[in-house]
Parts: sequence; structure tokens; C-alpha cells
Amino acid sequence: MTDKRWVALEQHQPQHLVKLFAADADRVSKMTIQEMGLRFDLSKTHLDDAALSHFAKLAEDMQLDAAKAALFSGAAINVTEARAAEHAAERGMGDAESVAYARALQQRMRGLVEAIDAGLMGDIRHILHIGIGGSALGPKLLIDALGRDGARYDVKVVSNIDGAALTEAVKGMDPHKTIVAVASKTFTTTETLLNATSAMEWMRDGGVADPYAQFVALTAYPDKAIEWGIDESRILPFNETVGGRYSLWCSIGFPVALGLGWSVYQELLDGAATMDAHFRNAPIMENAPTLAAFVDLYYAQTKSCQTRAVFAYDERLRLLPDYLQQLEMESNGKSVTAEGAPLGRHSAPVTWGGVGTDAQHAVFQLLHQGTHLIPVEFIASKTPGHDFDTKHHETLLVNCFAQGAALMAGQKSDDLARNYVGNRPSTTILLDDVTPATVGALIAFYEHRTFVNAVLLGINPFDQFGVELGKQIAKSISDNGASGFDPSTTALIAAALGDI
Ligand code: F6P
Repeated sequence: MTDKRWVALEQHQPQHLVKLFAADADRVSKMTIQEMGLRFDLSKTHLDDAALSHFAKLAEDMQLDAAKAALFSGAAINVTEARAAEHAAERGMGDAESVAYARALQQRMRGLVEAIDAGLMGDIRHILHIGIGGSALGPKLLIDALGRDGARYDVKVVSNIDGAALTEAVKGMDPHKTIVAVASKTFTTTETLLNATSAMEWMRDGGVADPYAQFVALTAYPDKAIEWGIDESRILPFNETVGGRYSLWCSIGFPVALGLGWSVYQELLDGAATMDAHFRNAPIMENAPTLAAFVDLYYAQTKSCQTRAVFAYDERLRLLPDYLQQLEMESNGKSVTAEGAPLGRHSAPVTWGGVGTDAQHAVFQLLHQGTHLIPVEFIASKTPGHDFDTKHHETLLVNCFAQGAALMAGQKSDDLARNYVGNRPSTTILLDDVTPATVGALIAFYEHRTFVNAVLLGINPFDQFGVELGKQIAKSISDNGASGFDPSTTALIAAALGDI
């Protein structure tokens, strides 16, 4: 069924990107937003005045302003789970009671960080953070991005249930000098609880008399952590209205606060808060998350692009594509509206990517000459993250900008194998530097962009029922064996596991 709200956009005839620049000398400044040390350049996309005004109308039809007000006021916008989505309250924006509650819990976390620094848990050198999905990806990204000049503690993040991951993580760790942070919003996740149990065994085998005393729990369900055996004094709770993939701002960020120091963690929160204020207050045509969502929707919805690629041209941000995969795909990979009706449109595209310049030598062939149209996003920093010859950084940035230019301009050749069609879109996000504040703002930007995508599609981005079926089947196989499954699954189980 045709959705009238999308007709104008679907009928929009894009001009060649090169022509868009030729037609408007101000295009770069019109389509670039500068916000607290981040430059969002959306000019190399097909959005022109007409497309932008169609999106503005769509945003009005889908009541984006009311949705934003509901997000920031703590209304129960996660309708399928009947609760609010209060990650911004962790940064100080939201319902006054929720902000106060978030602050109080953050102060509790700060107290534990200071107690550990003061040696109250012994001579601690290592933090073994155990979690998965949203309980791991944020800490992993932040430690990797911001801990390169020397974290205060050695931090390892383990997520996979494959014991090889835990084996690798504990190599070189002294169990007597290790804190294990068990991070799980629900405190029921199989991978996390098994890894935590094995970490406890590792401590016992290493001669630690009371391993429980070195365990900390980060969870929205403290009772479950107590039941598991962790003392209440070492449980850092958070509000259940903070979704798993938005939880690095609360106690799931504990390894960041402890590993990098409280001031770093606070700067991260403050950076995100600045982006919250921008998203809340900037007019629609100057609003970075909103315009970036228009770009996403333009390609996914009107050009049927099934993927979008993200390349970090900065080694410090190499884990950003992984982080964004969960944020974008778990939030908006849905075929049902918030009202429970079939979506009738494409859901979010597949987010994938890598690091530049490595990716240029592996996947960029397809981006330039493949048959798929793939919107590309480049993220780079003006300031290098190392002290080697400046030639490294200069070459890195030159390559980043060259790719965007080449995708757009293309190059004609009569020899088809050497022809570049061009007219391929990209966006570029240029950071002044990779700092706690800019990274905080960048992550908040992606959160709000994902939210705008959801609102304009009519999706609830805050649930994730699609992950449940696989979990149920795995449990059923573990509990009841292989009977009752399809022949292929039954044969695979028999071949690999025998009788279980
Ligand atoms: O299975 C998906 C998921 O629920 C994610 O949404 C979440 O981030 C992850 O599992 C981990 O969940 P928890 O923090 O409850 O262990």
C-alpha cells in the first residue's frame, strides 16, 4: 500500500552530485554543521532543497518534535515494554526525578572508583569487564579510543562465550590484583554469567581465597546480582529505563570511569550533553542528527540501499563500526511499527564498515565500481593520535578526502573496466581531535540520528524481540537435546556434540 507521506520523496529526481555543487555556491556551508569540535559535512549527498523540504514535511507528519519532547521528558516511548528511554537523563537532560536518580547512581559509582583508587579493594592492577552486546561494546570502544596514552589500570573486555576469549583476556593478569566487573542489564545473559563463573574459577585456581570480594556487578537488577553472590556494596545499579545499547552512560561505563579516571568519564558525559542540547534545540535544517537521518532514509527508503558503510579514518575509532552495528541494527532492524502493524517499508539498512586506509585495499573496489549503491560515511580527526612523522596523518586524511571526491566525481573511460561512474554519495564527520568530549558528542549524535530514523519510520527503536528466538532454541537444545528440530540442525548437533 502506498504511504502518501513518502510519495514526494519517492518521486524526487536527484541531480548528479557534481551538478548540485555547480548549482549552489553555498552548498558546502548549507549542508555542513559545526558543533563543539565536530564538523558534519553532508554536502556530498543527493539531498537538495526539494528533498529537504519533503523530509521537513515528513518530520512534521510523523510528529518528530513531539517525539523528541517525549524522549526528553521521560514519557514511556518504548511502548512495547511500557517504559521510557532515559539515556539522556544520564547526561543531565530529562525528567528531573530521573536526572537526580541517575546522578545519585553515578555518584555511587564514583565512590567505588575512589575506593578502589585508595586501595580499599587491595592492590588492583587489572579490570576484567565481562558483558556482551550493549554491556560490552561501549566500554570496549571507549577504552580502545581514549585509553591509548596509558589507562590507569589494565582493562580487558570479554564478551564471547567461546572460552578462547576469556583465556586470551586473562593472559598476563594476576588474579590477586584483578577486579571482575560483571556487566549485564538483566543479569540473566548466558554468555556473561558463564564467563563470570569461569573467571571465578580462574581466580580460585590462582589462589584467591575469596574471589567474590573482587567481583563488582553493573546491572539494572541488583537483586539478581545479590542472588548470584555479589555483595550489595559492590553492586552498581542503573535505571531499567536505560536501554542496553545506550548504557555506557551509566554503570556499564564503570571500566571507563575506573580505567581512564572520573574526569575523563565526566567529560564524556558532558560531551554527550552538548549534543543532547543541540539535538533538542537546533532548528531542523541545522540539526546534525536530524539531517543525517534524512540522508539515511533517503538512500534506504527511496533508493532501496540495503547497506550503509562507515569507515573510521582514525585507528582510535576502529571499533566504531562494531558499536554502530548494534545501535543501528538492533534499534531499527524491524518490520513492524510501534503500533504493531506491518512496516510496509524497508527497515534500517545493514551497517558495516572498517578502518581507513586498510579498507581501501580490500572493499573499496565494490564501492567505486560495484553495482550496489552504498552511502559511505567517513570519520576522521584533524589531530593525530600519535607522535610519528606528520606525514602519516597527512596521508591518512588526504586518502579519506580523496575517496569521497572520487566516489562523487567518478572518471569516464571508454574502457568500461576502467570507468568510474561517480555520483556516489558520502558524508564526512571531521573531529578536531579524539577526546572524551568529542567522542561523547559523536556517540550521542548517532543515538539521536537512530532515534530520528525510527520516528520517521514509525518504529519503536528501544526493544529487541528479534534476538529472543535464537536464545530460546539454544536453551531448548541445551535442556532437551536435539530432538524435534529440522534434519539439518539435528545432524549438525549429532556431528559436533553427540548426545547432549
Ligand atoms: O540479546 C540482545 C541483548 O539483549 C542486547 O540488547 C543487550 O545489549 C545484550 O543482549 C546484553 O544484555 P544484558 O546487558 O542484559 O546482559
